[in-house]
Amino acid sequence: MKPKIGIDEIQPYQGGKPIEEVQRELGIGNIIKLASNENPLGPSPLAVASMKEAMSDINLYPDGNIYYLKRDLAVHLGVLPENLLLGNGSNEVLQIVGETFISPNDEVIFSESAFVVYQLVSKICSAKSVIVPMLGFDQDLGAMADAITDRTKVIFVANPNNPTGTMVTKNQVEQLIERVPGHVLIIFDEAYCEYINRSDYPQTINYISEKENIIITRTFAKIYGLAGLRIGYGISSPEIIDLMNRVRQPFNCNTLAQVAARAALKDYQHVRESRELNERGKTQLYHFFDEIGLDYVRSEGNFILVHFDTSGQEIADQLLQKGVIVRPVAGYGFPNSIRVTIGTAEENQRFISTLEGILQTT
Ligand SMILES: Cc1ncc(COP(=O)(O)O)c(C=O)c1O
Repeated sequence: MKPKIGIDEIQPYQGGKPIEEVQRELGIGNIIKLASNENPLGPSPLAVASMKEAMSDINLYPDGNIYYLKRDLAVHLGVLPENLLLGNGSNEVLQIVGETFISPNDEVIFSESAFVVYQLVSKICSAKSVIVPMLGFDQDLGAMADAITDRTKVIFVANPNNPTGTMVTKNQVEQLIERVPGHVLIIFDEAYCEYINRSDYPQTINYISEKENIIITRTFAKIYGLAGLRIGYGISSPEIIDLMNRVRQPFNCNTLAQVAARAALKDYQHVRESRELNERGKTQLYHFFDEIGLDYVRSEGNFILVHFDTSGQEIADQLLQKGVIVRPVAGYGFPNSIRVTIGTAEENQRFISTLEGILQTT
């Protein structure tokens, strides 16, 4: 059977290896995973409690309108429920953007070394991917605007980007918005925004009321610690949300995810502790990299791109043999790098001493 144009070009998504898989394959215990930018603090205890309470109702379908979570999220963000679309992870929202707006032969612009799902969405929609070179480790928004044609439908901007960890500033974003015509949608993927406290990080929600062609995506998988539940969201004009809502599966967000997200949103202590843990871990890892003379990219997220003189895949394989799972990133154009998620102090220390051991023997 011949698939749609583009489908056979798709490389199946390579996620971080689950701990159980490594245990099974290598027969070793005491494994740590610093490979998928998850929250090392665990989920919010309030979220866990809310799920326990909701368990006895899971014979019923979830609320298809996601009423309470949308209501709480709208208050939290200072928007209306009509501005929100919930998804099975923000990845699903990105896919719904594609299914709603991208037709075969449309052009989709994103940066080289940008989060892999933009390419995936473009291919699923049989569109033409227009991949714009980076400026060092930064997305070049000027060059992305230069790449717009009459056929452009969507521009994906990851802010901050995964795996580089770099962000684009308010000024850069405003210049981009100025240059993008109304027939082109700009998607700001802000999966890690809650980790950022820089004053030049754009508050893109402010643009939603002025511009109809902007969609912001965010997630409960990172700072809120709910990656396993798959829940994320999009913020946009009511017109755009209404269109995407027609494409969304009726029960795309399960009951436990809905209650847990509501509880996590209000667990300010968990969010604050997660942010502080991440800052401390970042300093710990930077300090180690500086001391040992390893190059890395300063990150705005909960992960760091680190460079080596040798193959990143080999470094990742050796770490794996010793029970430390990190992510090789050759597929993003960084053959001599790995991406390490910032863990707890103990996990970071384990990564540090394991890597030191490996570097001493190579
Ligand atoms: C930049 C970026 N966007 C989106 C996602 C997807 O997150 P979710 O778990 O909400 O689908 C990730 C996950 O790693 C990411 O790094």
